[in-house]
Amino acid sequence: MVSFTIDGQPVEAKEDQNVLEVALDEGFDIPHLCYNENVKPYGACRLCLVEVSRKGRSRITTSCNYPVMEGIEVFTSTEKVLRARKMVMELLLAMCPGSKLLQEMAKEMGINEIRFKKEDKDCILCGLCARVCDEVVGAHAIQFAFRGDRREVCPPFMEQPKDCIACGACVVVCPVNVIGMKEEGDERTITRWKRTLKMKQCKICGNYFAPWYQLEKFREKANLPKDFFDVCYTCRS
Ligand code: SF4
Ligand code: SF4
Ligand code: FES
Repeated sequence: MVSFTIDGQPVEAKEDQNVLEVALDEGFDIPHLCYNENVKPYGACRLCLVEVSRKGRSRITTSCNYPVMEGIEVFTSTEKVLRARKMVMELLLAMCPGSKLLQEMAKEMGINEIRFKKEDKDCILCGLCARVCDEVVGAHAIQFAFRGDRREVCPPFMEQPKDCIACGACVVVCPVNVIGMKEEGDERTITRWKRTLKMKQCKICGNYFAPWYQLEKFREKANLPKDFFDVCYTCRS
Protein backbone atom coordinates (compact mmCIF):
# COMPACT_ATOMS: atom_id res chain seq x y z
CA MET A 1 0.00 0.00 0.00
CA VAL A 2 0.99 3.61 -0.61
CA SER A 3 0.16 6.52 1.71
CA PHE A 4 -0.23 10.11 0.57
CA THR A 5 -2.55 13.07 1.04
CA ILE A 6 -5.31 14.65 -1.03
CA ASP A 7 -6.16 18.21 0.01
CA GLY A 8 -4.47 17.45 3.33
CA GLN A 9 -6.49 14.30 3.98
CA PRO A 10 -4.39 11.13 4.46
CA VAL A 11 -5.35 8.34 2.01
CA GLU A 12 -4.09 4.86 1.23
CA ALA A 13 -4.02 3.22 -2.18
CA LYS A 14 -2.75 0.14 -3.95
CA GLU A 15 0.53 0.63 -5.80
CA ASP A 16 -0.98 0.21 -9.27
CA GLN A 17 -3.70 2.84 -8.79
CA ASN A 18 -3.77 6.32 -10.28
CA VAL A 19 -4.47 9.52 -8.38
CA LEU A 20 -7.85 10.16 -10.02
CA GLU A 21 -9.40 6.83 -9.14
CA VAL A 22 -8.29 7.12 -5.51
CA ALA A 23 -9.54 10.70 -5.29
CA LEU A 24 -12.94 9.76 -6.74
CA ASP A 25 -13.23 6.77 -4.39
CA GLU A 26 -12.50 9.08 -1.47
CA GLY A 27 -15.25 11.47 -2.57
CA PHE A 28 -13.14 14.29 -4.06
CA ASP A 29 -14.72 16.05 -6.99
CA ILE A 30 -12.34 16.21 -9.95
CA PRO A 31 -13.99 16.80 -13.34
CA HIS A 32 -13.00 14.22 -15.94
CA LEU A 33 -14.22 13.06 -19.33
CA CYS A 34 -11.88 10.48 -20.84
CA TYR A 35 -11.26 8.31 -17.78
CA ASN A 36 -12.94 4.93 -17.48
CA GLU A 37 -11.78 2.39 -14.91
CA ASN A 38 -12.14 -0.48 -17.39
CA VAL A 39 -9.49 0.77 -19.82
CA LYS A 40 -5.96 2.13 -19.59
CA PRO A 41 -5.83 5.87 -18.87
CA TYR A 42 -4.99 7.94 -21.91
CA GLY A 43 -4.87 11.50 -20.59
CA ALA A 44 -6.72 12.93 -23.58
CA CYS A 45 -9.23 15.45 -22.26
CA ARG A 46 -6.76 17.14 -19.83
CA LEU A 47 -9.63 18.05 -17.54
CA CYS A 48 -8.64 16.02 -14.49
CA LEU A 49 -5.78 18.39 -13.61
CA VAL A 50 -4.47 18.51 -10.05
CA GLU A 51 -1.38 19.95 -8.39
CA VAL A 52 1.09 17.38 -7.06
CA SER A 53 3.88 18.20 -4.69
CA ARG A 54 6.71 15.66 -4.53
CA LYS A 55 10.10 16.02 -2.89
CA GLY A 56 9.56 19.73 -2.51
CA ARG A 57 8.66 20.31 -6.17
CA SER A 58 5.19 21.08 -7.32
CA ARG A 59 3.59 20.58 -10.74
CA ILE A 60 0.21 20.62 -12.45
CA THR A 61 -0.62 17.27 -14.00
CA THR A 62 -3.48 15.13 -15.22
CA SER A 63 -4.50 12.83 -12.38
CA CYS A 64 -5.93 9.90 -14.37
CA ASN A 65 -2.50 8.85 -15.58
CA TYR A 66 -0.47 9.97 -12.56
CA PRO A 67 0.49 6.91 -10.47
CA VAL A 68 0.07 7.07 -6.72
CA MET A 69 3.37 7.47 -4.85
CA GLU A 70 4.39 7.36 -1.23
CA GLY A 71 4.34 10.77 0.42
CA ILE A 72 3.02 12.90 -2.46
CA GLU A 73 0.67 15.75 -1.68
CA VAL A 74 -2.20 16.17 -4.12
CA PHE A 75 -4.25 19.35 -4.30
CA THR A 76 -7.47 19.27 -6.27
CA SER A 77 -8.55 22.89 -6.25
CA THR A 78 -5.69 25.37 -5.85
CA GLU A 79 -5.95 28.64 -7.74
CA LYS A 80 -3.46 27.34 -10.32
CA VAL A 81 -5.46 24.13 -10.84
CA LEU A 82 -8.77 25.94 -11.21
CA ARG A 83 -7.27 28.40 -13.70
CA ALA A 84 -5.70 25.65 -15.83
CA ARG A 85 -8.82 23.48 -15.68
CA LYS A 86 -10.98 26.41 -16.79
CA MET A 87 -8.76 26.96 -19.79
CA VAL A 88 -8.98 23.27 -20.75
CA MET A 89 -12.75 23.45 -20.42
CA GLU A 90 -12.86 26.54 -22.60
CA LEU A 91 -10.78 24.78 -25.25
CA LEU A 92 -13.05 21.73 -25.18
CA LEU A 93 -16.12 23.91 -25.47
CA ALA A 94 -14.56 25.89 -28.31
CA MET A 95 -14.04 22.60 -30.13
CA CYS A 96 -17.58 21.31 -29.51
CA PRO A 97 -19.72 24.37 -28.71
CA GLY A 98 -22.97 22.47 -29.26
CA SER A 99 -22.35 19.89 -26.53
CA LYS A 100 -24.95 20.20 -23.77
CA LEU A 101 -22.73 18.33 -21.29
CA LEU A 102 -19.75 20.61 -21.92
CA GLN A 103 -21.99 23.67 -21.69
CA GLU A 104 -23.23 22.50 -18.29
CA MET A 105 -19.77 21.67 -17.02
CA ALA A 106 -18.46 25.03 -18.19
CA LYS A 107 -21.33 26.80 -16.46
CA GLU A 108 -20.55 24.99 -13.20
CA MET A 109 -16.98 26.22 -13.50
CA GLY A 110 -18.17 29.77 -13.93
CA ILE A 111 -17.18 30.07 -17.59
CA ASN A 112 -19.35 32.65 -19.30
CA GLU A 113 -17.43 33.27 -22.51
CA ILE A 114 -15.05 31.37 -24.76
CA ARG A 115 -11.90 33.22 -25.73
CA PHE A 116 -10.88 30.72 -28.40
CA LYS A 117 -12.00 30.33 -32.00
CA LYS A 118 -15.08 28.11 -32.12
CA GLU A 119 -15.18 24.99 -34.26
CA ASP A 120 -18.21 22.93 -35.12
CA LYS A 121 -17.10 19.46 -33.99
CA ASP A 122 -19.11 17.17 -31.77
CA CYS A 123 -16.35 14.75 -30.68
CA ILE A 124 -13.75 15.74 -28.08
CA LEU A 125 -11.26 13.16 -29.41
CA CYS A 126 -11.00 11.44 -26.05
CA GLY A 127 -10.53 8.06 -27.75
CA LEU A 128 -12.59 6.28 -25.11
CA CYS A 129 -14.79 4.58 -27.73
CA ALA A 130 -11.79 3.10 -29.53
CA ARG A 131 -10.08 2.06 -26.29
CA VAL A 132 -13.20 0.26 -25.06
CA CYS A 133 -13.66 -1.38 -28.45
CA ASP A 134 -10.02 -2.58 -28.34
CA GLU A 135 -9.44 -3.39 -24.69
CA VAL A 136 -12.86 -4.53 -23.46
CA VAL A 137 -14.79 -5.76 -26.51
CA GLY A 138 -11.72 -6.93 -28.43
CA ALA A 139 -13.28 -5.98 -31.77
CA HIS A 140 -10.75 -3.30 -32.88
CA ALA A 141 -13.41 -1.84 -35.15
CA ILE A 142 -12.61 1.89 -34.88
CA GLN A 143 -9.43 3.94 -34.59
CA PHE A 144 -7.90 7.38 -34.69
CA ALA A 145 -7.23 8.63 -38.22
CA PHE A 146 -5.67 11.73 -39.81
CA ARG A 147 -3.66 14.46 -38.11
CA GLY A 148 -4.09 17.99 -36.84
CA ASP A 149 -7.47 19.60 -37.49
CA ARG A 150 -8.71 16.59 -39.40
CA ARG A 151 -8.02 14.11 -36.59
CA GLU A 152 -11.01 11.92 -35.79
CA VAL A 153 -12.07 8.50 -34.57
CA CYS A 154 -13.60 6.47 -37.37
CA PRO A 155 -13.77 3.01 -38.92
CA PRO A 156 -10.87 1.97 -41.20
CA PHE A 157 -11.14 3.56 -44.67
CA MET A 158 -14.23 5.45 -43.46
CA GLU A 159 -16.31 2.44 -44.46
CA GLN A 160 -18.89 0.48 -42.45
CA PRO A 161 -16.58 -1.29 -39.92
CA LYS A 162 -16.76 -4.99 -40.70
CA ASP A 163 -15.31 -5.94 -37.31
CA CYS A 164 -17.96 -4.01 -35.38
CA ILE A 165 -20.36 -6.39 -33.62
CA ALA A 166 -22.79 -3.53 -32.83
CA CYS A 167 -22.52 -4.27 -29.10
CA GLY A 168 -23.09 -0.63 -28.19
CA ALA A 169 -20.21 -0.42 -25.67
CA CYS A 170 -18.77 2.64 -27.41
CA VAL A 171 -22.20 4.25 -27.36
CA VAL A 172 -22.45 3.83 -23.61
CA VAL A 173 -18.98 5.16 -22.77
CA CYS A 174 -18.87 8.20 -25.07
CA PRO A 175 -18.83 11.06 -22.53
CA VAL A 176 -20.50 13.53 -24.87
CA ASN A 177 -23.02 11.04 -26.20
CA VAL A 178 -22.43 11.43 -29.93
CA ILE A 179 -22.21 7.85 -31.19
CA GLY A 180 -25.85 6.74 -31.05
CA MET A 181 -27.62 3.46 -31.52
CA LYS A 182 -31.06 2.68 -32.92
CA GLU A 183 -33.08 -0.49 -33.23
CA GLU A 184 -35.76 -0.82 -35.87
CA GLY A 185 -37.51 -4.13 -36.47
CA ASP A 186 -34.85 -6.79 -36.78
CA GLU A 187 -31.93 -4.37 -37.21
CA ARG A 188 -29.56 -2.51 -34.90
CA THR A 189 -27.52 0.41 -36.19
CA ILE A 190 -24.57 2.11 -34.53
CA THR A 191 -25.30 5.44 -36.12
CA ARG A 192 -21.94 7.21 -36.01
CA TRP A 193 -20.14 4.27 -37.63
CA LYS A 194 -23.06 3.49 -39.96
CA ARG A 195 -22.90 -0.14 -38.92
CA THR A 196 -26.17 -2.05 -39.30
CA LEU A 197 -26.56 -5.68 -38.27
CA LYS A 198 -29.50 -8.06 -38.21
CA MET A 199 -30.74 -9.03 -34.74
CA LYS A 200 -31.48 -12.49 -33.48
CA GLN A 201 -35.07 -13.36 -32.50
CA CYS A 202 -35.72 -15.26 -29.25
CA LYS A 203 -37.36 -18.63 -29.87
CA ILE A 204 -39.57 -18.23 -26.79
CA CYS A 205 -40.74 -14.59 -26.55
CA GLY A 206 -40.09 -13.57 -30.16
CA ASN A 207 -38.17 -10.40 -29.22
CA TYR A 208 -35.13 -9.34 -31.21
CA PHE A 209 -32.48 -9.21 -28.50
CA ALA A 210 -28.93 -8.87 -29.89
CA PRO A 211 -27.09 -8.75 -33.21
CA TRP A 212 -26.44 -12.16 -34.77
CA TYR A 213 -22.80 -11.32 -35.39
CA GLN A 214 -22.23 -10.31 -31.75
CA LEU A 215 -23.77 -13.55 -30.48
CA GLU A 216 -21.76 -15.62 -32.94
CA LYS A 217 -18.53 -13.95 -31.79
CA PHE A 218 -19.40 -14.52 -28.12
CA ARG A 219 -20.35 -18.12 -28.83
CA GLU A 220 -17.09 -18.82 -30.67
CA LYS A 221 -15.00 -17.16 -27.98
CA ALA A 222 -16.63 -19.05 -25.13
CA ASN A 223 -16.92 -22.29 -27.12
CA LEU A 224 -20.67 -22.50 -26.46
CA PRO A 225 -23.08 -24.90 -28.18
CA LYS A 226 -24.63 -23.76 -31.50
CA ASP A 227 -28.11 -23.27 -30.03
CA PHE A 228 -26.90 -21.41 -26.92
CA PHE A 229 -28.29 -18.03 -28.01
CA ASP A 230 -31.59 -19.31 -29.43
CA VAL A 231 -33.24 -17.93 -26.32
CA CYS A 232 -32.88 -14.34 -25.01
CA TYR A 233 -31.35 -13.43 -21.65
CA THR A 234 -34.76 -12.76 -20.06
CA CYS A 235 -36.35 -16.05 -21.11
CA ARG A 236 -33.23 -17.94 -20.07
CA SER A 237 -33.36 -16.72 -16.47
S1 SF4 B 1 -20.45 -1.14 -31.22
FE1 SF4 B 1 -18.83 -1.71 -32.66
S2 SF4 B 1 -17.36 -0.04 -32.58
FE2 SF4 B 1 -18.67 0.13 -30.75
S3 SF4 B 1 -17.57 -1.01 -29.15
FE3 SF4 B 1 -19.01 -2.45 -30.08
S4 SF4 B 1 -17.81 -3.43 -31.68
FE4 SF4 B 1 -16.67 -1.60 -31.13
S1 SF4 C 1 -16.87 9.66 -30.28
FE1 SF4 C 1 -17.13 10.05 -28.09
S2 SF4 C 1 -15.90 8.48 -27.07
FE2 SF4 C 1 -15.24 8.55 -29.20
S3 SF4 C 1 -13.49 9.95 -29.21
FE3 SF4 C 1 -15.32 11.16 -29.68
S4 SF4 C 1 -16.03 11.94 -27.73
FE4 SF4 C 1 -14.60 10.29 -27.28
S1 FES D 1 -9.81 12.19 -17.38
FE1 FES D 1 -7.70 12.56 -17.20
S2 FES D 1 -7.13 13.45 -19.05
FE2 FES D 1 -9.22 12.97 -19.30
